Amino acid sequence: MIRSKIVATGAGIPDQVITNDDLAKIMDTSDEWITQRTGIKQRHISSGENLSVLATRAARQILERAGMDARDLELIIMATCTADYGTPCLACMVQKEIGADRAVAFDVTAACSGFLFATSVADKFLRTGVYKNALVVGGEMISKIVDWTDRSTCVLFGDGAAGVLLQTTEEEEGIMVEELGSKGDMYEVLTDGYTPAANAFNDVPPLDKMDFVHMDGRAVFKFATKKIVESVNRVLDQAGLTPEDIKYFIPHQANARIIDVAVSKLKIPKEKFYVNIERYANTSSASIPTALNEMNEMGMLQKGDKIVLCGFGGGLSWGTILITW
Ligand code: COA
Repeated sequence: MIRSKIVATGAGIPDQVITNDDLAKIMDTSDEWITQRTGIKQRHISSGENLSVLATRAARQILERAGMDARDLELIIMATCTADYGTPCLACMVQKEIGADRAVAFDVTAACSGFLFATSVADKFLRTGVYKNALVVGGEMISKIVDWTDRSTCVLFGDGAAGVLLQTTEEEEGIMVEELGSKGDMYEVLTDGYTPAANAFNDVPPLDKMDFVHMDGRAVFKFATKKIVESVNRVLDQAGLTPEDIKYFIPHQANARIIDVAVSKLKIPKEKFYVNIERYANTSSASIPTALNEMNEMGMLQKGDKIVLCGFGGGLSWGTILITW
């Protein structure tokens, strides 16, 4: 049986660090409020580089670590909802920058669940033998789509890109079990970038300013804590495993309190959950691969370890992937 496995990780994080105190200088907020409500202490915010620059940096690092020539890449999938352009997709821009001229490149949009959805899509191409390798990067520049005068949303997010190289394997390893889910009837809970159906032949007025991120924070909180627990339990059941068998859980880093609730409901020791939200805030589709990359760089992941990636986000959407490293 063909499976896909992660053979390298990498990231492209902007250099500029904005602390909670920096935010308190430009809006009515405080380090105390942000830390207590979210666990966030700082975030990386682009100082002018667009997302394609960060995603290209991540892609180059991944390929270098894998010792792979970009011309041998067969598939590039970027998970994002903040690409430089509406079209072309981010994946095509990265393809050009790294010189992966034989690859097929496209984007997947599933907000903060994006990396899990993109990984799942790549896994299917590899399992069916269509391609033998795939670069999957989650990248987001939320700083350009939040309203910096809306303290209830802008303090929560950060910019970044990170991802993995997947390759086929015939061993009992790699992506083992997964669950993806969508709940479109709750789409209005988390939106951004609405464009009206305005054109020259009707009287629908175009927007007079950009439509930023809107979020019902409490509804997302409730949804996330419920879905993480249900989805992780279902995936473990399907794999015939218990939480004791899992070395690490890597949750989407949206709010430390969401992770705390999931930890207590799942009755899993907190040490098994990797948390870095204090340094990056919520980087949406980049959050899980950024965490995975950090753990990989620190040598935390050993062959055979069972790891659960779990995320949720706009759509609303969620996903859980069990990996044997
Ligand atoms: N600084 C200071 N005060 C703030 C603030 C900020 N940055 N943002 C909001 N407030 C204020 C509100 O105005 C409100 O004041 P009021 O009581 O006078 O009206 C008060 O803080 C409480 O706001 P509330 O929205 O009730 O806080 P909360 O405890 O629900 O926390 C979130 C808000 C957004 C942190 C929380 O709901 C959350 O994390 N939700 C999930 C969001 C998420 O993860 N989204 C991404 C999904 S991928």
